[in-house]
Amino acid sequence: MTTTAATDLPLWPPSTLDQGPFALLDDEQRWLLARPVTRVRLPTGVPAWLVTRHADVRQLLRHPGFSADLERPGFPLLRPLPPQTDLDLQGGFIRMDGAEHSRLRRMLTAEFMIKNVRRIEPLIRQTVDAALDDLAAAGPPADLVESFALPVPSVVICHLLGVPYADHDFFQVRSRTLLDRTVPAELVAAHLRELRGYLHDLILARQADADGADDLISRLVRGRVATGQLAVAELVGMAMLLLVAGHETTANMISLSTLLLLREPGRFAALRAAPDRAAILVEELLRYLSVVRTGLPRLALTDAEIGGHLIRAGEGAVAVLSLANRDPKVFDNPEEFDPYREAHQHFAFGFGVHQCIGQPLARAELRIALVELARRFPGLRVTVPPEQLSTRDTSIVFGLNTLPVTW
Ligand code: HEM
Repeated sequence: MTTTAATDLPLWPPSTLDQGPFALLDDEQRWLLARPVTRVRLPTGVPAWLVTRHADVRQLLRHPGFSADLERPGFPLLRPLPPQTDLDLQGGFIRMDGAEHSRLRRMLTAEFMIKNVRRIEPLIRQTVDAALDDLAAAGPPADLVESFALPVPSVVICHLLGVPYADHDFFQVRSRTLLDRTVPAELVAAHLRELRGYLHDLILARQADADGADDLISRLVRGRVATGQLAVAELVGMAMLLLVAGHETTANMISLSTLLLLREPGRFAALRAAPDRAAILVEELLRYLSVVRTGLPRLALTDAEIGGHLIRAGEGAVAVLSLANRDPKVFDNPEEFDPYREAHQHFAFGFGVHQCIGQPLARAELRIALVELARRFPGLRVTVPPEQLSTRDTSIVFGLNTLPVTW
C-alpha cells in the first residue's frame, strides 16, 4: 500500500451511550466519511482500506473482484483466526464466494422470503406475548435483555430450525464467543467445535427420524441431504450460521431500540398510537443503530477501483456500514434520529450477494416486539443513567449486556 500512516479501525457506535440521543460522529469519523478510502490498521495489526461513503460501500459490496473468504491468505481479519487444523467452516456460506456460496444460500432463500415469514408471524406474536406475560407476572424491576430482547429472537430461530430452546444457555454463550473480537483463538476454536458437535448430533437424530417434523433442519435433511445435494457437515455449518446470526443481531437491535425510544418522551406513545408506522420506524432504527459495528471485511482478488481509488489485488478493504448509514449525500440530517424518515437505502443488512438472508424475519421480529412492548408497558422506563449501562464493547455486533427497566 502506498499511503500515509494508518489510523486504527474506528468502532461505531461508540461504547458510551451518554452523548446526545446516542453519540454523534466525532471529527475523525466525519473526516473518514468525507474520504473515498482511508488506510487503517485492523485490531489484528493488518492494514486495510476503510470504505465509508454510501456509494463506495455499495460499489465494494457488489464488486465481483472482492472475496469474503476469510481463509484466503491476506484476508483482512478483524480477529486472529484459530489454526486451520482447528477450523471447520464447512457450510458457513457467509464466508464463501461465487458458486459455492450461491449453491448453499439458494437452498434457504425460499425459507426466508417475505411471504414465508408472514406465515410465521403468529409464532413471533405468540413468542412476544409469552415473554411479555412472564415479564408482567414477575413484576418490576427487570432486565429487558434477559427477559425479552434475547429470548424472543432466540425462541423464534430455535423453533424454525428445530433446535430445542431448552439448550439456549449452551448456544448463547458460544454464539457470543464467536462474535467477540477479543476472545483468544483457541477458545473460539473450542466453542466452534462444541457448537458443530451439538448440531451434528441433532442432525443425525433427525436423519434417523425426520419423517414427520416440519422444522428447517428436518426439511433440509429430507430434501437435500437424503438426495445427496448437501453434506451433513455443510448442513451443520448452515444451521450454526442461522443460529448465531439469527438471535444476537436481532436481540441487540431490540434492546438498543427500546433504549433509544425511551430516551425521548412520547416516542413509545407515538408507536402505540400508530402501530402501522412501525415498519418505517424499524428502518430508521436499523440505519441509526447499525449494530454490525466493525464493518464487513473483504479481500481484493483483482485490482479494483472503489470511489475512484485503486485497491490492488491482495489488499483488504472494510465496508463500514455504520458510517455509510450516516452519509449526508443519502440521508438528510443523518445524525438525527427521525422516526418518520423513509430510510430504506440503509446498509444495516449489508449489500450485494451476502446481504442478510434473515432480514424479513428480523424486520418482523423488531416490529412486533417493539409495538407490543409499547402497547403493554406504557410506563416502561430505564432505571440507570446511560453511562452506567453495560455495553458489548468487544463484540462485532454492538449491543447491551443488560437493560434495567421498571414500569
Ligand atoms: C437486525 C438483525 C440483523 C442484522 C443487523 C443483520 C446483519 C447482517 C449483515 C450486515 C450481513 C452481511 C454480512 C456480510 O456481507 O459479510 C448479514 C448476513 C447474514 N445474516 Fe443477518 N442480520 C440480522 C438478522 C438475521 C437473522 C434473523 C438471520 C437468520 C435467520 C440472519 C442470517 C444471516 C445470514 C445467513 C447471513 C449470510 C448471508 C450470505 O452470506 O449470503 N440475520 N446479516
